Amino acid sequence: MTKIFIANWKMNKSRAEAAEFFSRFSVHMQSDAPVSGARVIVCPPYLALDTFAHFQESLSGVELGAQNVHGAKSGAFTGEVSVPMLAELNVSAVILGHSERYQHFGETPENVRARATAALEGGLTAVVCVGEREADYRAGRSEEVVLDMLRRSLPPPSTHGIGSLVIAYEPVWAIGTGLAATAEVAQSIHAAIRGELKEQLGDAVGEALPILYGGSVTPDNIAGYTAERDIAGALVGGASLDPDKFFDLITRGSKR
Ligand code: 13P
Repeated sequence: MTKIFIANWKMNKSRAEAAEFFSRFSVHMQSDAPVSGARVIVCPPYLALDTFAHFQESLSGVELGAQNVHGAKSGAFTGEVSVPMLAELNVSAVILGHSERYQHFGETPENVRARATAALEGGLTAVVCVGEREADYRAGRSEEVVLDMLRRSLPPPSTHGIGSLVIAYEPVWAIGTGLAATAEVAQSIHAAIRGELKEQLGDAVGEALPILYGGSVTPDNIAGYTAERDIAGALVGGASLDPDKFFDLITRGSKR
């Protein structure tokens, strides 16, 4: 299976800093072959999305992603951005339901489902995040909480483009803390997610959808994750802000 590496810059980097990243990253992507089999998606803040256009030729293998999108095509939704608006900037993927959206912006699984459905129907790859909080992890309720979140945020099976869905398992306690879940713990949750996807979407679709791990992923621990059966790659925060580090991570994660 093609490995997927997604850079989530969160609210980091000005347009000038994004240009610096792309410039340096393109040198790596052009000079090194080992990552040619990987799918690489960079998700800058909205305002730096069009900065990518200047590097499209030198970053031809890299895709552009956004960090959120609204479910409606247009209308009275102050502060929001729609799928057609992203498509106009050659955005091919979008992250939905990141735990920071739940924590700080009142996101709900039902809302994530609407947004993810619109993204898929608009031809985008929808990266739907799920993950338990520390208290649930400590109480041994990770799987239960994650599967409940998944059931509530999953787009309906009849959604056009459902095959372009990606799930990201990001335990909240592992995000930005340096306390990454072990590959074994992540794999066991991924296997449970895989089972649920098969149940909800049918065996063929459920078996094919990529499930990514996110939470303190670094160049040093990535290979442990991608060696696991149900871990198709990573959603990376902090380690994706430095082009050398992110490239190193991709290289190590895509080795067989
Ligand atoms: P870190 O890689 O900084 O832990 O962030 C993970 C994340 O939230 C990616 O979406």
